[in-house]
Amino acid sequence: MKLLVTGGAGYIGGIVTRMLVDAGHEVVVLDDLSTGHTEALAPEATFVNARVHDAAQVLTPAAGFDGVLHFAAFIAAGESMTRPELYWENNTVGSLALIDAARAAGVRRFVFSSTAAVYGNPTELPIPESAVKAPTNTYGATKLAVDMALTSEAIGHDLGAVSLRYFNVAGAYLRDGVQLGERHDPETHLIPIALQVAAGRREKLQIFGDDYPTADGTCVRDYIHIEDLARAHLLALEAARPGEHRIYNLGNGNGFSNRAVAEVVREVTGRPVPVEIAPRREGDPAELVASSDRARTELGWTPAKPTLHDMVGDAWAFYRSQILEKA
Ligand SMILES: NC(=O)c1ccc[n+]([C@@H]2O[C@H](COP(=O)([O-])OP(=O)(O)OC[C@H]3O[C@@H](n4cnc5c(N)ncnc54)[C@H](O)[C@@H]3O)[C@@H](O)[C@H]2O)c1
Repeated sequence: MKLLVTGGAGYIGGIVTRMLVDAGHEVVVLDDLSTGHTEALAPEATFVNARVHDAAQVLTPAAGFDGVLHFAAFIAAGESMTRPELYWENNTVGSLALIDAARAAGVRRFVFSSTAAVYGNPTELPIPESAVKAPTNTYGATKLAVDMALTSEAIGHDLGAVSLRYFNVAGAYLRDGVQLGERHDPETHLIPIALQVAAGRREKLQIFGDDYPTADGTCVRDYIHIEDLARAHLLALEAARPGEHRIYNLGNGNGFSNRAVAEVVREVTGRPVPVEIAPRREGDPAELVASSDRARTELGWTPAKPTLHDMVGDAWAFYRSQILEKA
């Protein structure tokens, strides 16, 4: 297929692009490099430096695209509460412009990066796709708005849409001897921050709250290996059917507390990771664990690297080879 990947200079989009290319697809990456990196771009893909808002310039009826995979977004939940207008404009307005362009170009397959943040404080665990959607931050709300727009687009204009609701993505992907991993700046994700502490690049790991109703009092999250997550996109692309909006949670169904993550980072790196307990953050649910039964049943997806040791081990291999050794 000829595919447009938005956000292909980012962590997840860059890795999925490589898997798409390796599977024989032709890929054009659209990214404005606002948070992405040219190193993350797959050399085999054509790169267009532009905003998703201007996607119609690339996604023309004559260009012959078969599908869009839409990763481009701002992703920092905390910042989305202090600068909400940026998130609505980038994530929702940008996505609506992309959907318009896809419609005008006759594109029938659309795979969207949604998030566990659409559920907010879950009313049931593990969380099924049918759970109440009540985001506790603007980031989650901007993604839920796009999910809803895709449902309308499937009904009204026969789009074949798939929303993948990722839980916490972690790990790295080894391709042609090079590790590809997570480089967010500022980093807001627990595992890469803990690795920075292990590497001596940060003094301590802040854990926000240890009085949650969980076994050790710290928040519990479901982690998914980037390789497993990326593979689900290829399955989703095949599964897209005109007129249907399919929605799948992607997680492992196992929760790990923040303290447990710090412990695994100590074990994998063999280095100390001092922890400081900080006040709770507004809007952080105590526990987020996915039910991915639907992805398993309907997409035939099964995670190959479900353990936290796999994820932290690969993330550490990336961090050492691509960040520490190149510094
Ligand atoms: N990383 C996670 O754990 C996680 C969890 C749930 C959902 N997601 C979703 O997955 C997607 C990818 O996340 P990531 O971790 O790879 O983030 P990332 O920041 O590494 O990548 C996002 C990419 O999108 C680009 N971009 C942002 N706004 C753009 C715009 N308007 N036009 C063009 N390009 C733009 C950035 O330059 C960057 O290359 C996001 O949509 C995010 O919401 C990520």
